[in-house]
Amino acid sequence: MSTVAPAPPSLRRTLVLRQTILLTLLLVMIGATQFVVLRSVLLHTTAASLRSEVAVLEPIIHHSLTRNRPAGFSALAAILLERLHAPGVEVIIANRYGMLMASSSTVPQGLPPPAPTGYALWQGRVVVSAALGPPRHPLGTLWLLTGAGPLWTILRRDMEVYGLLSLLALTATAVMGLISVNRSLAPLQRMLKATSRIAAGNYGTTADLAGAPEELARLGEAINTMSRAVADAFAGERASQEQMRRFLADASHELRTPLTAIRGFLSLLDAGELDAAESATALAAMRQQTARMQRLVESLLTLSRLDASPETQVHPQALDLAAWLAGLAPTLTGLYGEGRVAVQAQPVTVWADPERMQEVLFNLLDNAHRYTPPGQPITVTAAREGNQGVLTVADRGPGIREADLPHLFERFYRGDRGRSRHQGGAGLGLAIVRASVEAQKGTVSAANRSDGPGALFRVVLPLAAPHAVTASAARS
Ligand SMILES: Nc1ncnc2c1ncn2[C@@H]1O[C@H](COP(=O)(O)OP(=O)(O)OP(=O)(O)O)[C@@H](O)[C@H]1O
Ligand SMILES: [Mg+2]
Repeated sequence: MSTVAPAPPSLRRTLVLRQTILLTLLLVMIGATQFVVLRSVLLHTTAASLRSEVAVLEPIIHHSLTRNRPAGFSALAAILLERLHAPGVEVIIANRYGMLMASSSTVPQGLPPPAPTGYALWQGRVVVSAALGPPRHPLGTLWLLTGAGPLWTILRRDMEVYGLLSLLALTATAVMGLISVNRSLAPLQRMLKATSRIAAGNYGTTADLAGAPEELARLGEAINTMSRAVADAFAGERASQEQMRRFLADASHELRTPLTAIRGFLSLLDAGELDAAESATALAAMRQQTARMQRLVESLLTLSRLDASPETQVHPQALDLAAWLAGLAPTLTGLYGEGRVAVQAQPVTVWADPERMQEVLFNLLDNAHRYTPPGQPITVTAAREGNQGVLTVADRGPGIREADLPHLFERFYRGDRGRSRHQGGAGLGLAIVRASVEAQKGTVSAANRSDGPGALFRVVLPLAAPHAVTASAARS
């Protein structure tokens, strides 16, 4: 048996309902109080007016009783009955033994309860009573009665008017409450729509928060920020997936080229159609392609290690760039020839890994050497700029096209593809340079020389802390 969870009550209905219930309770309480107070006032006023009638007759009663008692009591009863007779007022007089002496009441029998102060309610009438004769030895009791019907009519009318007004107030409150709650909750409604759209996959959707009260505005702002963050995260994820896909495609492509060449040479060798000289050439070509593949695989490995944990791949130390370059002079001459690389270095001690810096420098020099016509110098400088050390490599080659500049450090990016392919690069050298420099907390940038043709690469590194410099000087 499946049970369907009841739909939760709507906030709007709940708010209006609560407000209306509260007002109803208040109105009922006010109505009840008003009823009790008005009833009491009406009864007291009626009783007071009856009592004032008796007070007017007090001298007559006194006079009659002192002049001819006791036989005068029945005469007095008759006089009183006549004097007090008035429309809507009934009179009952009894002697001290409780015998009815005179009555204008329509109640067939019985005497009302005594009400010497205040009033009593008896047979649908308001009753007041007064003792006749001396207070210590009264000769009888006088009752004045008046029907309570008109009082109840006044009370009922009052309650009817009050009820009607209350009903109007309740309706107006409910309607106005609904309008005001609707208005206040409109931004919430918009937020609900926005979150539904986000849940449906439309990341980045935001709610319009115009006119929202502070609490709702804050909630809405949080939702909007979250939505933008999710959209950014998804975009980033997509971009990195696309980057990875491109990287794999490029890597596969780069590896396939030498593999295809090797397979071609192998099938020629297999067929036994090559003479000794041709076989030697094929083997040499295969060795060259294998070396190319190895370089490629090593480059990829370097990059993936730097990607995975840059911190563990560098071992920085205080490195005086001028001394380091001086130490590399024989290697530079050996690799690029006498006088090809001109070094102009000021003493500057940076915080860097000498092994990694050598990789950076040779990648930059390889490129410079590749593009610079023979006889033109490649310049390497080292200097301090503020609280940074700067290493530059400048050449006299054709320079870099503006369109290539933003992409130069991307993996497998080769500026002028035809020329680069001819020159043999895979487009990983500068990507390794950047990964390596950044792992050493530095930055690298490329530009064209301002003084004529040629490219200029700048590697900026943090200076070594003074105590590290002292320690490394002590070691050496
Ligand atoms: N000194 C330079 N002068 C002109 N263009 C350059 C220079 N250095 C790099 N480039 C351009 O930048 C591209 C990327 O260089 P990068 O070193 O990353 O790759 P590569 O040299 O082509 O291959 P690899 O370094 O992997 O053997 C080059 O293909 C070239 O177009
Ligand atoms: Mg290169």
